[in-house]
Amino acid sequence: MTVTSRKSVTSLMSAIAETGRDPARGGYSRPVYSTAELDLRSWFIAEASARGLDVETDRNGIIWAWWDAPSGDRTGAIVTGSHLDSVPGGGAFDGPLGVASALAAVDALRAQGRRPERAIAIAVFPEEEGSRFGIACLGSRILTGAMPVERALALKDDDGTTFAELSAKAGLDPAHMGADRERLGQLGAFIELHVEQGRGLIDLGQPVAIGSSILGHGRWRLSFTGQGNHAGTTLMRDRRDPLVAAGALIGQIPGIASRFDGARATVGRLQPVPGGTNVIASRVDVWLDVRHPDDDVTAQVVAEISTRAELLAFEQGCTVTVREESLSPTVSFDSDLRRRLEVALPDAPVLDTGAGHDAGILAAHIPTAMLFVRNPTGVSHAQEEHVEDADAEAGALVLADVLMSELGV
Ligand code: GLV
Ligand code: MN
Ligand code: MN
Ligand code: MN
Repeated sequence: MTVTSRKSVTSLMSAIAETGRDPARGGYSRPVYSTAELDLRSWFIAEASARGLDVETDRNGIIWAWWDAPSGDRTGAIVTGSHLDSVPGGGAFDGPLGVASALAAVDALRAQGRRPERAIAIAVFPEEEGSRFGIACLGSRILTGAMPVERALALKDDDGTTFAELSAKAGLDPAHMGADRERLGQLGAFIELHVEQGRGLIDLGQPVAIGSSILGHGRWRLSFTGQGNHAGTTLMRDRRDPLVAAGALIGQIPGIASRFDGARATVGRLQPVPGGTNVIASRVDVWLDVRHPDDDVTAQVVAEISTRAELLAFEQGCTVTVREESLSPTVSFDSDLRRRLEVALPDAPVLDTGAGHDAGILAAHIPTAMLFVRNPTGVSHAQEEHVEDADAEAGALVLADVLMSELGV
């Protein structure tokens, strides 16, 4: 077995600092199975292989790097890891920090002369952000059966490429993709380390927090349809412009959401068809993201926005349909695992998060926990996302401790 010398999180992260940079948007754009994301996957496979880990890409495109127990038995494996895809113009740490920290944690355990009595695996999940195909955590949803694979394979990106076509191009066989009970049955626990995506840790004087829960969240697509026409020859009174209805709705969403304490509602993506400066659009798809700890409140917010959308569409002579694209209920992480983390990390604050994660999908099947590393800007999904080197190293050591206490390695 070749084992490289120990690497810090900072040196692992700096090796990928140029991959997928997006000067036009700022930050990084690493859509699933793009050249940038495939390069990161190759980087991870090379780093894991150099450590003598047994690396496999499963039939769903999830990469697993195994540090086996002497028995070779993988039952009850402790899994850590995260994702390497990004939102458009995202930060450097959302996803890769969890992957680099997992590698550094393995290095730290080895440097301490530890060997696992139960297998450890580092997992890398594809399309966590849902930036390319619209559904977040697609890899873990397929693995767990949370999304029927037929629906996932039929999803299209902005170029009209299906997830099936892109998966095949990435070397997978779509006919063999789908829920994987056998793999799930091997997993004893999942612990995802992630950059904190809000301001929770900033004033607490601690580099790492324990995750308690993930806010329920979902995505809806509101498709406004009107009459495509000429920008110069169509009088204002003759128009049925779906973008006018959509724009009015977007302006009213903050007011609607603010009436529900704790609700967050966002439109970050508009797709006008055909999208020409001198063309009145015939249709526009408005992607709505709504989050709240109480799933009933999320449903109420969406219902109010939908009713308002119908009214505004009617006023413009347009129609609107609302389609739920994905829905993830609020997740509380495994209480027993969390209690053990609280004992192992007595100084770490306990925080919930408004961001979605593969951990939230896996939590329905296996004991799951999260660790958050301080982000001094409090900004995420943007280039200002940041982690100080010292906090990144502290995070990896905490992860190593957690793996150790979980495994008795
Ligand atoms: C993904 O990071 C999300 O929370 O939307
Ligand atoms: Mn993430
Ligand atoms: Mn993210
Ligand atoms: Mn996420």
